[in-house]
Amino acid sequence: MPVLGPFRCDPQEFAGRRALVTGGTQGIGAAIRRRLQAGGARVATAARSPVPDWQGEAPELFIQADLSTAEGAAAVAAAVRERLGGLDLLVHVVGGSAAPAGGFARLDDEIWGQELARNLFPALRLDRAFVPGMIAQGAGVVLHVSSIQRSLPLHDATLAYAAAKAALTTYSKGLAQEVGRHGVRVNAIAPGFIETAAAARLIGRLAGQQGVTEDAARQGLMQSLGGIPIGRPGTPEEVAELAAFLASDRAASIHGAEFRIDGGTVPTV
Ligand SMILES: NC(=O)c1ccc[n+]([C@@H]2O[C@H](COP(=O)([O-])OP(=O)(O)OC[C@H]3O[C@@H](n4cnc5c(N)ncnc54)[C@H](OP(=O)(O)O)[C@@H]3O)[C@@H](O)[C@H]2O)c1
Repeated sequence: MPVLGPFRCDPQEFAGRRALVTGGTQGIGAAIRRRLQAGGARVATAARSPVPDWQGEAPELFIQADLSTAEGAAAVAAAVRERLGGLDLLVHVVGGSAAPAGGFARLDDEIWGQELARNLFPALRLDRAFVPGMIAQGAGVVLHVSSIQRSLPLHDATLAYAAAKAALTTYSKGLAQEVGRHGVRVNAIAPGFIETAAAARLIGRLAGQQGVTEDAARQGLMQSLGGIPIGRPGTPEEVAELAAFLASDRAASIHGAEFRIDGGTVPTV
């Protein structure tokens, strides 16, 4: 099997498939974008920052937009429709938390609104834009990137994020129930601690602040989750392999499910 970038994959697996990967410029989204491109898909992506240096792996379409707003989602939907005509694969990756630490009382309505706008609403809006076309063509795949925090919420700073991800996973299940009979498959992915470039920078900062090695800072973060049984965080490429599998015809009967990729972090079944 050919090796394409960091991926060993069939370069024809997604040939002719039209994909939108939100947040495909950094972290998990960038890895999923590159993995789908390596598999031959025509890929569009969107992020807020200006067009990045693609390092020879530019997607077919990049839209600069803030997907936490209705206007941003509408602009992405219009640009994708114009260029690709519709979608076969829709991978919702955009998400994250900017809430302050301090527990539930610090989370006012504005912060709750921002966390929902970033972690739930982009998926709702883009699904409304593209799933009807998938139903009409009798085929399509939707993936929602949730988080293990939806079942293992941390209360200090990310409770609103965790609750928004829980809403995303529950919505994902309901959408699957509704559209499966039309040939549209819907699944969710719940990552644990994934060491993206942003996470690596955080580890470097913590190491500097605490006067410890980066490995000790990484272990400290892992301990804050109760430990990771495999002994390390996951990589964005490992999440991308799961996404590629779920997006592929190899997963044709997997529907309405959520897959954790957390090295065993969540201690319950
Ligand atoms: N990394 C982890 O450990 C982890 C664990 C569990 C779940 N997750 C989930 O996995 C997803 C990706 O996380 P990540 O750590 O890979 O994030 P990341 O490295 O911060 O990358 C986020 C990507 O989304 C884009 N983005 C963020 N907000 C956006 C917005 N409002 N509109 C458009 N684009 C936006 C970013 O580009 P711009 O900043 O330029 O907009 C970037 O391309 C998120 O949903 C996160 O909740 C991550």
